[in-house]
Amino acid sequence: MRKPVLIGNWKMNGSLQANQALMVRLLPRLRMFRKSMDLAVCPPLPYLFQVRDLLGYTGIALGAQNASAFVSGAYTGEVSATMLQEMGCRYVLVGHSERRTLYGETNQDVAARFRAVMSVGLTPVLCVGESLEEREADQTSTVVANQIQAVIDEVGLSSLAKGVVAYEPVWAIGTGRTATPEQVSMVHQDIRSFVGRNASEASQDISDALRIIYGGSVKPENAFDLFGLADVDGGLIGGASLHSEDFGAIAGALAEASGLLTDECETN
Ligand code: PGA
Repeated sequence: MRKPVLIGNWKMNGSLQANQALMVRLLPRLRMFRKSMDLAVCPPLPYLFQVRDLLGYTGIALGAQNASAFVSGAYTGEVSATMLQEMGCRYVLVGHSERRTLYGETNQDVAARFRAVMSVGLTPVLCVGESLEEREADQTSTVVANQIQAVIDEVGLSSLAKGVVAYEPVWAIGTGRTATPEQVSMVHQDIRSFVGRNASEASQDISDALRIIYGGSVKPENAFDLFGLADVDGGLIGGASLHSEDFGAIAGALAEASGLLTDECETN
C-alpha cells in the first residue's frame, strides 16, 4: 500500500510573525495524522530555520520549493540540494509550473534538479501538468509523459519512483478552478500506466509503488472527492496550506479518503 503524502507549498508568502502564528495553529491539527501519512511544509528559503525549529520533533517534515542542479559555484540566486539537506529539509519540489512558466525551466533543467536532490538523499517532488491550451489541444498525455520521460532519461526509472510525482494542471493552480475527479483520475491512471509500460522488467512494480499526488486549488470542500480516487495518493496544496483550518481539514479528508481515520489516528 502506498503511504499518503500531503505537502503544503507556501510559495512566496509569509513573515516571521505570520509563520509562527500559522504553525502554532496548524501543528495541533496535524498531530493526529502524522503516523498515517507523510506530511511536509515548504516555506520560502529564508524561513527554513525558523520553520524547522517550529516543527521540532513533530514528525512533520520540512521541504523546499526548488534546488539548483549544481553542487556549488557561481550560480547567483540558486541554492544547492546539499544546503537544503543541511537545513533539515526532507522534500524538495522540482519543476513547479511557476518555475517552468515564469522562469523558463525546461524538462531537462527540471530533470537535472531532480537528480541533484536525489543524490543527497532528499525526496524530489516532480511537478508535472499541462496548460489550458495544451489540454484543449488534447495534448495532456503527451506533455505529462514528456515531463516524466525527461526525468527517467536522466536518473532512470527506479530513481523516479523514490520521488513523488505531483500532477498539477497549470490552469487549476491558484485559480480556484479545480480539475474534476474524472479529469484527475484519467491523468493519474495515465501516468501510472506510462511508467508501467517503461521498457524495464520491474516497471510494473515501480509503477504500483509510485506515489502520485494531485495539486491545483485543493480545498476542504473538494479534497475528499479527489483523494478518494484510486490513483491519487495525496496532495500538493498551495493557497489552502496557508490557513491552518483548511490545511488541517484537507489532512482529515486525506485520512478519511484513504481509510486511515482509525482510533489511533483520532486519539494520537
Ligand atoms: P493552489 O497551488 O493550491 O494554490 O492551487 C498548488 C500549487 O501550486 O502547488
